[in-house]
Amino acid sequence: MSVLQELSQNVKSIKPLEYEILARRLKMIRKELRQGERKPYKEVLDVSFGDLHMSGLKPLSFVRQVLAACLYPQLIKSSTFPVDVKQRAQRLLRECAGGSVGSYTATAGIHEIVQRISEFITRRDGGVPCSPENIFISPGSQWSIGNILKILLNSEASPRTGVITPVPNHSTTNSSIMSLGGVVVPYYLNEEQGWQLQVEELQRALDSAKGQCNPIALFVTNPGNPAGQVQSRKSMQDVIRFVSEKRLFLLADEVYQDLLYENSEFVSYKRVLAEMGPPLSDTVELASFHSASKGFIAECGLRGGYVELVNVDPTVMKHIHTMFSTDTCAPVLGQLALDLMINPPQPGDPSYPLYHKEVEHIRTALIHNAKRVREVLNSLPGFSCQPVEGGSFVFPRLFLPAKAIQQAEEMGMKPDTFYCMRLLEEAGVLVLPGSEYGQKEGTHHIRFCIMSPQETMEEVLRRITSFHTQFMRDLS
Ligand SMILES: Cc1ncc(COP(=O)(O)O)c(C=O)c1O
Repeated sequence: MSVLQELSQNVKSIKPLEYEILARRLKMIRKELRQGERKPYKEVLDVSFGDLHMSGLKPLSFVRQVLAACLYPQLIKSSTFPVDVKQRAQRLLRECAGGSVGSYTATAGIHEIVQRISEFITRRDGGVPCSPENIFISPGSQWSIGNILKILLNSEASPRTGVITPVPNHSTTNSSIMSLGGVVVPYYLNEEQGWQLQVEELQRALDSAKGQCNPIALFVTNPGNPAGQVQSRKSMQDVIRFVSEKRLFLLADEVYQDLLYENSEFVSYKRVLAEMGPPLSDTVELASFHSASKGFIAECGLRGGYVELVNVDPTVMKHIHTMFSTDTCAPVLGQLALDLMINPPQPGDPSYPLYHKEVEHIRTALIHNAKRVREVLNSLPGFSCQPVEGGSFVFPRLFLPAKAIQQAEEMGMKPDTFYCMRLLEEAGVLVLPGSEYGQKEGTHHIRFCIMSPQETMEEVLRRITSFHTQFMRDLS
């Protein structure tokens, strides 16, 4: 047997993503279209990923101008860019070793940027103090999540260590837990109540782990992916009391904190915890994750994220530092993108009018899309869509006819994958099945991204409407 065939059991336990099946078909359809094959559509609309730039929304000019000037400092001398762009690029270059974005940085990131992240967090949290010592920049937030999980999970422990995680959830986190030999202990968000997290359900999940594993952490995503819910302060307080009582580490994925609709408000776990006061504020251990991949900047390809740790023992902090140092440092452009995200142009700066216009253009599109998706899907028989309060995805429930489920089984497919495949084939729209993110037994969902230009979303909704109406007619 070859070395590769002897892959670790943990890696083997990760299921292949349903996305792979659909992505293969997508590739073929695109090839068929290029070869002139006739289909009811001229191009496929891929709304499966949370990638604002891939979906046709434009990068922010200020961000790209500063990055361009940092990459090619000759541009600082030219008259092409506004003066604040040049000043920002000069300052950032002074903070890079040797004045170049091609240099390594300290493990936790460029010192000055880490310092400014801590100031941003303090501003965001209404003055709650934040120490730069507790921040680590990483190549995207998923990397930080993986590293903190490595510290928390002990694959050799008996019983194995577990993490209580939401259903539905961003699939990569569950894969990370399993690949590290941990156990995913699911808790279900309440769909009928706008996908809210209920503390009784956390207790049920914890009880279900008895005899199976030793849960050591609770994972929350707020605003949610894929369900688009935003947690209330009250619900967060309940969670904090729960983790304190059960002695669980709290992992808070807060990467969608800037994307809010329906008058919802984001409050960080760090702030709620601080405002609850001692003893909770001094004892609950928390890791909060943020990223330059999401929000209006959406520079996911540049790979810049960070984690802030709260109440973590100094000896553990040393191990965390060691874990992060295994990759030397995060990509410098990703670090710079984080800096630009948390310190955008201010009123009065030469770049502000254009920056403001571009951000408002994206915000308007997202607010429009969040509202329209719900309106349109809820008008179709067989769909039920909860409000999208934040984030970049919608996760509507599909009530599939028995005939559709039977046909899916005959083809060896999950029913929601079958629906997505038919939607892709017949209407040229790629969305992903709910089974990829977890869903209650016997329910079906689809997930798609609302971060696209309004015209694209309207076309997606037109195609879904016409496909779905025919699908339900044929199979009911
Ligand atoms: C909830 C959530 N957390 C983390 C990530 C990973 O982001 P990053 O690009 O910062 O690794 C994503 C990406 O889509 C996400 O949806």
